[in-house]
Amino acid sequence: MNLPNMLDAAKRNKDKVEYIYENRDYNKIYDNKKYFIRTYGCQMNVHDSEEISGILDNLGYIKTDIFAESDLIILNTCAIRENVHDKVFGFLGRCKHLKKKNPDLQIALCGCMAQEEVVVQEIKAKYPYIDLVFGTHNINELPKMLAEYPGHQNINVYSKEGNVIEFDNVYKRDSNVTAWVNIMYGCDKFCTYCIVPYTRGKQRSRKQEDILKEVNDLVKRGYKEITLLGQNVNAYGKDLEEKVGFSSLLEKVSKTGIPRIRFVTSHPWDFTDEMIEVIAKYDNIMPYIHLPVQSGSNKILKLMNRNYSKEDYLILFNKIKNKIKNVSITTDIIVGFPGETEEDFLETLEIAEACKFAGAFTFVFSARSGTPASKMKDETLKSEKDDRLQRLNKVINKYSKESNLEMLGTTQKVLITRISEKDDSKVCGYTENMKLVNLIAPISAIGKIIDVQITGAKSFSLDGEIKKC
Ligand code: SAH
Ligand code: SF4
Ligand code: F3S
Repeated sequence: MNLPNMLDAAKRNKDKVEYIYENRDYNKIYDNKKYFIRTYGCQMNVHDSEEISGILDNLGYIKTDIFAESDLIILNTCAIRENVHDKVFGFLGRCKHLKKKNPDLQIALCGCMAQEEVVVQEIKAKYPYIDLVFGTHNINELPKMLAEYPGHQNINVYSKEGNVIEFDNVYKRDSNVTAWVNIMYGCDKFCTYCIVPYTRGKQRSRKQEDILKEVNDLVKRGYKEITLLGQNVNAYGKDLEEKVGFSSLLEKVSKTGIPRIRFVTSHPWDFTDEMIEVIAKYDNIMPYIHLPVQSGSNKILKLMNRNYSKEDYLILFNKIKNKIKNVSITTDIIVGFPGETEEDFLETLEIAEACKFAGAFTFVFSARSGTPASKMKDETLKSEKDDRLQRLNKVINKYSKESNLEMLGTTQKVLITRISEKDDSKVCGYTENMKLVNLIAPISAIGKIIDVQITGAKSFSLDGEIKKC
């Protein structure tokens, strides 16, 4: 099925979502085999990799960080922009080389790229050494696919979505302090540039009781922070028969007693006053909101099918800032969308100046095959788009640094999550409003929320010291 047909299918598919409760107690039949997993893309993919790792662990595989010693290499891919494609195919070149030395090595490609028909065709034609290909809706079939191997290139990609598979905690989570919790799958928004509704399918919310069961279990196991995950978390529940919305879910999750709750990503279109009230009311819901604006031009927002104007965004932004104490707001912005003129871009710079975002992910538009925007007339030169990105980043970095400087001298509650990546004599963690802080503290501080005095502000992180009482 090609992508435009998938779009029709996703829109037409009125089938009820089936909730499947699966037992994943597998026999450990692959004792001591090693797997290496590389993940591209968003938190959804990071969490899917935790699920894949959980399945492999249950089958007896052992995880390795050493690519060259693995028996199974899994590439969990992302399709959001062309440059990710290039990275994945670049890495596959290294895998091919390794397979020449070790013919028993198995190579699997999964994730959002596997949902693209063009990619599957390319793999069939040019990459015979990829053994397994499975889509975002087929993760649960991995054990069967491994059992069927070897023999042929095994491709298992459903374009039909519709189910929510529930299973008891077989995730192999990367952290024992913070955890991702899916609250929904897919997306119904169909922003014209975006491939996600095709690769992840229509929106399917998990049932509230299943989410709460998972959170309660994480609380029992001592987790300190959870992040509720979805492409559009504040549309949670719109597809459920039982009328429950994101604000009521947040309230219930807050009452589980988990010390910290975060959520990504929120769409401005679905952000209600009720949500703002709930976030402001409960101390364990963190004052941090990622609120992608994408563009400051109403003409471009309309072409993107974002369904809000820059005025709507600014009203919402200011409401959040006024009602939630110490909140910090970050965003995503695309430059060079088809038809974006210099004037449109200047409006994007204006909104970045007006909002003084605490941070932003900025991108140059990348045409994704099958999306409506890929067929729109795009006459702007690449050099012009790159120049816009640089000009935008200057403004974004200025305010990101400014928002860090504002924290100097304050005392912040920091959840220490790990040893610092850049300096292993330090640990690091996040403030309530999601600022990364590096500090000297004993390793035993990992997993604790401690008072930290902010002593230094860099562009993308803070330095701190344990607050002396
Ligand atoms: N669900 C989220 C984010 C989805 S992907 C949301 O709606 O905000 C993350 C970001 O990638 C998007 O916010 C957008 O800024 C960017 N993005 C998505 N498709 C893109 C494309 N075709 N070209 C460039 N950037 C894109
Ligand atoms: Fe893509 Fe838009 Fe859905 Fe976000 S809301 S995943 S940008 S279609
Ligand atoms: Fe990429 Fe798929 Fe996430 S396209 S951004 S990994 S949902």
